[in-house]
Formats: sequence, structure tokens, C-alpha cells
Amino acid sequence: MNTFLRTAIVLLLGMLCVACSPAGRVRHANGFSDSFRSAAVAADHPIASDAGAQMLAMGGNAVDAAVAASFTLSVVRPYSCGIGGGGFMVINLPDDPTHGFVRTAINYRETSPYDADYYERTGASSTVGGSAVAIPGTVAGLVYALEHYGTMDLKTVLEPAKKACIRGFVVDEHYADNARELIERFSDDPGMKTRFPLVWNTYLAQGTIGVGDRVHNIGQLKALNWIESFGQEAFAEHRMGGAVVDAVRSTGGSIRVADLLAYRPAELEPVVAEIGGRIYLCMPPPSSGGVTMIECLKILEQLKYQHGAPDEEEQLHRLAEALKHAFADRSRYLGDPAFVEVPTDRMLDDENIERMTKMIDDRAHASSSYGTHDALPIDGGTSHVSVVDAWGGAVAMTETINLGFGSLVGVDEFGFVLNNEMDDFTTVRGKANAFGLVQSERNMPAVGKHPLSSMSPTIVLDADGRVLLVAGASGGPRIITGTMQAIIHAIGGMDAGNAVASPRVHHQWLPDRLEFEDGFSKEIRGALEERGHSIGDRDAVGNVQLIQRDPGGGGWLAASDPRKGGTPAGID
Ligand code: GLY
Repeated sequence: MNTFLRTAIVLLLGMLCVACSPAGRVRHANGFSDSFRSAAVAADHPIASDAGAQMLAMGGNAVDAAVAASFTLSVVRPYSCGIGGGGFMVINLPDDPTHGFVRTAINYRETSPYDADYYERTGASSTVGGSAVAIPGTVAGLVYALEHYGTMDLKTVLEPAKKACIRGFVVDEHYADNARELIERFSDDPGMKTRFPLVWNTYLAQGTIGVGDRVHNIGQLKALNWIESFGQEAFAEHRMGGAVVDAVRSTGGSIRVADLLAYRPAELEPVVAEIGGRIYLCMPPPSSGGVTMIECLKILEQLKYQHGAPDEEEQLHRLAEALKHAFADRSRYLGDPAFVEVPTDRMLDDENIERMTKMIDDRAHASSSYGTHDALPIDGGTSHVSVVDAWGGAVAMTETINLGFGSLVGVDEFGFVLNNEMDDFTTVRGKANAFGLVQSERNMPAVGKHPLSSMSPTIVLDADGRVLLVAGASGGPRIITGTMQAIIHAIGGMDAGNAVASPRVHHQWLPDRLEFEDGFSKEIRGALEERGHSIGDRDAVGNVQLIQRDPGGGGWLAASDPRKGGTPAGID
């Protein structure tokens, strides 16, 4: 069947579904967590949760809601994600009225325009300016997801984002904290003000932006109008494609319209694992999130780890040791499987998990002893949305432009910034990236290759295949540890609000440091230091958005992490 005919049939079925589906009214959470009887969206900004919930209220499915939330986040969380970035979406629709059964993962992560030794050869920056920008995938990914698994048209799902451009949004604490740090950098280097005018003038209001200020973005409205008319093509060519290329070139990078045009999202099989009688659906490589989290959870299952057990010190030690094994493997083996061999099966096989588990005793050990050995010859600003719809369908979607405001390169006329995802590659052998991650040569750039990611959109099902949890986070490598601990908390009996708000720890193998959020006692930290862990502090171990099937009723408990200031919305 040709694409036009298929799209027409899906749209027609979608319209019939909208006409006959259980529409409702959007209700906004009272605080960072709430319960909803029928459907829910947890994004890290209230306006984005509202955008998704509006689609659900009109009878849209979880994919429609996720796409609407994403376009809106591009406007209201411009330092976290957006149309200049990329992302991953895990979709589980058990019984969608339009599409039937769907279980898939969409990879719309950015790709490299450069070869392996670009940064070593040129000394160019992988964090600031045009040389940091990877080919964006968000618009292509969202359009693809909507066309194949949504039920609404682009005009409908873009509407809330367009409204947000016109009405503007109010700067919250999280935005202001991000801006403050950046204003200091612009003040230290005034040349940045003319190099990155969109960020300086619009997003930082020339250094005056503060809590309560309103940010409008008429430029991005223009971009959204073009996307509504021409989809991904608008982004890749015409005036907008040219503007993206010019923005990159005038700030030190080199991409071509042909690179934008060649970009394609890809559908992948989710990583599926059964742990503790539940089924985990996770993002496969080039995300490291799914494999790392599953490896860690499998070790914890063997260790009989129990969050909240009276021996807190022992449980935290087990968690840290399991994380060190999983992150050591992340660092050694993971990369884009389209370019390098990734030994996922070996890393997750029972014998290997048992071997790593047996290594864990009551002390911390030398970093080199963790992880899987000999699996292969060794050569080394994000946002998450969780959605459930009225048919039990779920989408876990994580998107990124990498660091706050990405590369700082603005596509000024169209009101958005471009990512600095090139820093997620191993740009210089042996050198840690901005998140302190030391990665292998398997993750060096190549033209068309995706950088390794920590984004961990995850759906957990019960033994009958019903959605139990939808989760994911922002926060670099802390995405993995944050998402995993919120899931562990929820499975351990906490409601979504407490599962997300409870204090968390982080260990990423290297640097060899166990980091604590506020909320752990001095005695516990001291006792873990005695066991050989090097101890540190961390403001936020990720920002998690979690939706949980209400164990006490038929509905959903939804929570947006109070660390970032979002609130969920939904339908009763
Ligand atoms: N840019 C953060 C990540 O993808 O891990």
C-alpha cells in the first residue's frame, strides 16, 4: 500500500476514533503528583503536560499526546530539548483502536556530520558553537511517530505549542537557575553576546531574566507553522534548512542541507527483560539507558536488594556496586550498533550477571575489576515525558539538546537553539565528556553515527502485559540512576509522588565516587566511606517523570519531579 493511501486510512480511522472515543476534560494536578482515572501525562513543565492532556481529552492516543507535549517543551523548556535536538520514544499500545497492538522504539537521536578524529585533529569544541552541533532528529522523529502510530494531524498536535509561542511562558526557578549560570559565562566572555544572540537576547533577556518574567517566541511560531505545512522537509530544506546550516557555519561548524535531508529516524526492537515477574521495555543502543539499567536491576535481583530495608547501609552498598558493574560495561562496550558490535546478549546473560554478583562483598574494590571482561577485544539539557491513554497505551519519550541551551547556537529567525550532542561521543580518546563519562573508542564519531546516550525511556508491564509504570528522566548519566531508583521505589510500594521525590544516589563507575542527594544521614555516608567508597554530593540525581497504575484503584498516579518544577495533567 502506498504511503499516501496508508496515511489517509490511518487519518480517517483516527477521525472516527476521535468522534467515538471517551473524550473528557483536562484536569491539572494539584502539586507535582496526582491521580487521574482515565489517562495522564507527566512532563517536566505544566504547559507541556497540559498540551499532551488536551490531545487525550480530544480522544487522541498516547503518541498524539507525546508529540504535542514534545513540540510544546521545545517552546517552554528551550534549554532542555527542542526541535534542534533529538530523542527516543518507547511505545506500547496493547489495544489501540486505530493501530491495534504496537510495541516499538523510535530512535531520532542526532547523528554526526564528522569523522572519528575530527576533534583530535582540529581541537574544535564539542560543547559550544557550530562544531558541537550534531544533525537534529526531533522533527523527523515526531512526524514519523505521528504518521505511523498517532491518530491526529500535525495541525492539531502543534496547536498548544503555537499558543505557547504567542502567549509566552513564565520563567520558573529551574529556568532561572540554568540562566544564572549561563549569564555568568556570557559576562566573562562578552564576545558570546554577539555570537549567540538568540540565547542572549531572547532566552536570557540580556542578562536580566528572572523568576516571574514572561518569554515569548514568535520566531519558533514561524518554525512551527512551516513544520505544520511541510513536516520534516520544512526543517531540512527551504528557508529553515538554510538557516540551520548558516547558523552552524557562522559559529565554527560545517553541516550541509544534504545532511539535514538525509536524516532518517529508525524503528528498533525495544530491549525486553523479565525481572521479578515484571516485563521491562527499554530503549536499545544507541541508548545506553536500557542495557545499563537492566544489567544493574538483574544484579540487584540476585543480591536480593530491597530499597527501604532496615539495613540501609548494606542496601546502598549493593546498589553502588551493581551500578559500578553496569556503568563499567556502558563505558567499555556501548556505542551505535549500526557502526560497532555491541555485545548486549553477553552483558545481560545469566552466567555473566552471576559472576558480577559474586564479586560483590562488603567492600568497594578497584575500578578496573568491575563489569564484563573479555566480551569483546577492548579497543572505550534533556526532558522526559510519560503518557498513558484511555486504552492502556503508553509512551515513554526522552529528548535532549544535551547541555543547557545545547551548543548556544541559535537559529535566530526561527527561535530555537541547536544541540551540542557531539559531546556525547568520545571526542578525544581517554578524555571525559561534560558529564565526566569516560567512554571507549567504540563511541567515537563517524559520519551518520549516533552518539551514545543515557536517555532511558522505560515502560514496565505486569505479567499479563498491562502497563504498570512509565518512567524516564533528564540529567545525563543520572538519567539511568534516577529512572531506575524511581522505578525501584514504586515497585517497592511507594506511590508515584513519593517514588519520584525520595532521595537518590548516583555512581557511574568513573569517576569512582558515590554521590548523595540531600536526605541521607551523616552516619550512613560515613559507614559507606568506611567500606571504601569515595563519597560526594549531588544536587539532583536526574529529574524523573513517572506514571504508575494506581495499586488501590483503576486509575493512574502521575508525578513530575519536584526537582524540576513540572506538574502532570490528565483526564478522569
Ligand atoms: N545528552 C544526554 C544523553 O543523551 O545522554
